[in-house]
Amino acid sequence: MSKIESILTESRVFEASENTQNQVALNATSIAQMYEKASKDHVGFWSDLAREKLVWSTPFTVGLDDSNAPHFEWFSDGELNVSYNCIDRHLATKSDKLAIIFEADDGSVDRYTYKELHDQVCRFANTLVSQGIQKGDRVVIYMPMIPQAVIAMQACARIGAIHSVVFGGFSAESLRDRIENAGAKLVITANAGRRGGKTIPLKQAVDEALEKGGDHVRKVIVFKRTNDDVPMQAGRDIDWYDAEAGMSNYHDPVMVNSEHPLFLLYTSGSTGKPKGVQHSTGGYLLNAHVTNEWMFDLSDNDVFWCTADVGWITGHTYVAYGPLSVGATILMFEGVPTYPDAGRFWKMCQDHGVTIFYTAPTAIRALMKFGAELPSQYDLSKLRILGTVGEPINPEAWIWYYNEIGGARCPVIDTWWQTETGAHMIAPFPVTPLKPGSCAKALPGIDAVILDEEGGALGTDEGGLLVIKKPWPSMIRNVWGDEARYQQTYFPLKDSVAGGETLYVVGDSAYQDKDGYFWILGRVDDVLNVSGHRLGTMEIESALVAHPKVAEAAVVSRPDDIKGEAISAFVVLNTGISHDETEREALVQELREWVAKEIGAIAKPSDIHFGSNLPKTRSGKIMRRLLKTLARGEEILQDTSTLEDPSVLEQFKKPKSL
Ligand code: PRX
Repeated sequence: MSKIESILTESRVFEASENTQNQVALNATSIAQMYEKASKDHVGFWSDLAREKLVWSTPFTVGLDDSNAPHFEWFSDGELNVSYNCIDRHLATKSDKLAIIFEADDGSVDRYTYKELHDQVCRFANTLVSQGIQKGDRVVIYMPMIPQAVIAMQACARIGAIHSVVFGGFSAESLRDRIENAGAKLVITANAGRRGGKTIPLKQAVDEALEKGGDHVRKVIVFKRTNDDVPMQAGRDIDWYDAEAGMSNYHDPVMVNSEHPLFLLYTSGSTGKPKGVQHSTGGYLLNAHVTNEWMFDLSDNDVFWCTADVGWITGHTYVAYGPLSVGATILMFEGVPTYPDAGRFWKMCQDHGVTIFYTAPTAIRALMKFGAELPSQYDLSKLRILGTVGEPINPEAWIWYYNEIGGARCPVIDTWWQTETGAHMIAPFPVTPLKPGSCAKALPGIDAVILDEEGGALGTDEGGLLVIKKPWPSMIRNVWGDEARYQQTYFPLKDSVAGGETLYVVGDSAYQDKDGYFWILGRVDDVLNVSGHRLGTMEIESALVAHPKVAEAAVVSRPDDIKGEAISAFVVLNTGISHDETEREALVQELREWVAKEIGAIAKPSDIHFGSNLPKTRSGKIMRRLLKTLARGEEILQDTSTLEDPSVLEQFKKPKSL
């Protein structure tokens, strides 16, 4: 049974345990009241929350300004500072409370109280200013998963600089594209990181990125994470601690307009290079704050571990900002779940008394393979809420997570959202009855519907486009430097701008069941979801054709038991197909490494098929659905009569996999 089929036939419902019902701040009645308020007064609902949950230096009087739709502004005459909201506001009551517990790859542990975090962020904010960084300047952060990454992000927010975190697994080429698109003045990196017992060079990639571009970068601050020496370019590169020398532990946060961009985060689309998703200050922080309260019931006694890297949106909203805004303790981890063994996550949950654990279905599926004996060796009794994010979770993995990790007492909160939405959009509250594989209902103040391609409403159980009808505070504000792409990508339905409705088109297909629960079916565009990581087919194709031996390439995904989707590439070589097996094996290796160099290791194709021509219609269009069938190793039952040369399908049948 395929994953989609098994989701379609899943009908179990899990009610919240009595324990959960008694423990959480929000019960069914208070949740119902929120829904009612939001549906009666959408803007008033969000505005009241913004006043209640955030600290404003200048209170706002305007809730939503939609005069420039589809650009929406929230609380736009108010001023605040995100770092103040995440740190300073807690100092009076929680200065000695732990803000961050950090476990390094080698198991060593570091802890930061709110006061210590404040001092470090202030010192680094002063450092950035002393290096010439001002409000509105862009700063690229390319760091391992260490507290200094969060300190750097918070310090940028404190001075009003716009950060763009680039995941440390992206290549020098990808890093350069992002540095250039953002027009960054400064890059913050580490000499290297440690993952799974290995050293991951980072500064080297920054050097390579800046060798051929990024001329606007004036300084590179380098945190020395390992003992490995890296070359430092005089006048440009500065050691983190040298730069901090003599800096004060106090910095007066720069209050910015609610609409001031807090960060850019690059993400893949179906066309072109990754786009810089621009997020705001006030609106973004509001949804980050409330979803940590609503979905995770975060409170003073919790230790919250979101395993995402800060290079992704999940690491922004559920590591660096949201939980700190709420005043919780977060756990950060530098390493990987399988080192030194596949019990690492569960040991860490035990050792640090984790109460709320949030990870990706890929990680659950990978760890499930090792059996339930591993988690059963650890005391997981402190856990009270589990979460998942990034891709559909198959009911089998859901049940395993629920039983073996959560001891059948913790709700599994399946959170649907995107880089562009800033925070959770569709997800259960801890007390919501759960259906494995469904992310339950849209949150209060989020108006999600299923429409057909023309924008017509669809009924129960009918699959269609997932669309959000009203603006919400943490929505994307723009694609950095590409206004046209913003409008075309997210508001393609006619009347979505002029007709008074928003109709933000998400890019996923989904359906709603009779209880109003959403079931996500997958992307409708050429975006792949590999291990919860978003990649564009076109990006990978462009990387492949940049290889001197490749004439043409097409990339599709196929289902994968662990990763959700795996990348299958169809390649036509300039040199013709070699019949020598060893030569072909070597070429597969070479092309995979090439893609890793061009984009990053996450984009390496799992299998590569070679042929003399891609299957195209007579008008030259690549028939991707045929490639998908071949990638799955299935028999071609589709009509192939429109193909220019049907014989090419035979050549592609046998993939070269690793
Ligand atoms: O297809 C959906 C999938 O991930 C996409 C967003 O990817 P990204 O911007 O990288 O953000 C990932 C982390 C929020 C969505 O369009 N997706 C995300 N969460 C889920 C999901 N698919 C199914 N279920 C989810 N819970």
